[in-house]
Amino acid sequence: MNSQHFANTLLRWYPQNKRELPWRNTKEPYIIWLSEIILQQTRVAQGQPFFEAFISRYPDVHRLAEAPIEEVMRLWQGLGYYSRARNLHACAQEIAFNRNGRFPATFGELRKLKGVGNYTAAAIASFAYGQKIAVVDGNVYRVLSRYFGIALDIASSQGQKAFADLANRLIPEASPDEYNQAIMEFGALQCVPKKPDCDICPLLPGCFAQKHRMVEELPVKTKKVRTTQRVFLYFHITAGDKTFIKERGPR
Ligand code: ADE
Repeated sequence: MNSQHFANTLLRWYPQNKRELPWRNTKEPYIIWLSEIILQQTRVAQGQPFFEAFISRYPDVHRLAEAPIEEVMRLWQGLGYYSRARNLHACAQEIAFNRNGRFPATFGELRKLKGVGNYTAAAIASFAYGQKIAVVDGNVYRVLSRYFGIALDIASSQGQKAFADLANRLIPEASPDEYNQAIMEFGALQCVPKKPDCDICPLLPGCFAQKHRMVEELPVKTKKVRTTQRVFLYFHITAGDKTFIKERGPR
């Protein structure tokens, strides 16, 4: 199967199956950036109410930049990975105060912003600016590894590079942004991690994993040592009848 057919199948599937999500159908970099930061390590169902609360409280990057950090942290409560909220606020201040409220438009410049990694920089470059750059998240690894039968470890840098290269070769000239949304949504809704319904899959005819009964084996991901996040907010020291309390700083 050629790459054009792969992309076209996803582009046909997408409008008929996509979820209506509030950060789609916009080219506004602020909205795309905010949604992608909130959705890092977070499911759509969990992140969406937070996204809506942030957008209604801070409709643009200036409002977010001018908000006190304590208020931003409070609004973030429940989402976890709190460094994201600090980076969000610092990045908003950089954009609002040093860049006239405008997000940079290239992957390289976006990548320099606090809290913006490869995935998020590609997402903003593609969804806001229509650039032809592959957006590779966990959904994309799953779809590509199964369809093309790639057993490289997605936790390894070699694997990540190979998947990113393949993803960039597959991206079509026309509607690269729509294609990026389509392949992520396809991984989220159709090519799901456990027991996907392959009988109704439009990519079934060319799927390596289905043909070789490897759907449950792919993608390959070596397990990292599991860590638990603990959050410490105050120093609390007692000495004799004295108590010392100090709020901790960001680090
Ligand atoms: N998860 C992370 N980014 C997303 C997006 N743009 N659409 C749906 N789910 C997502």
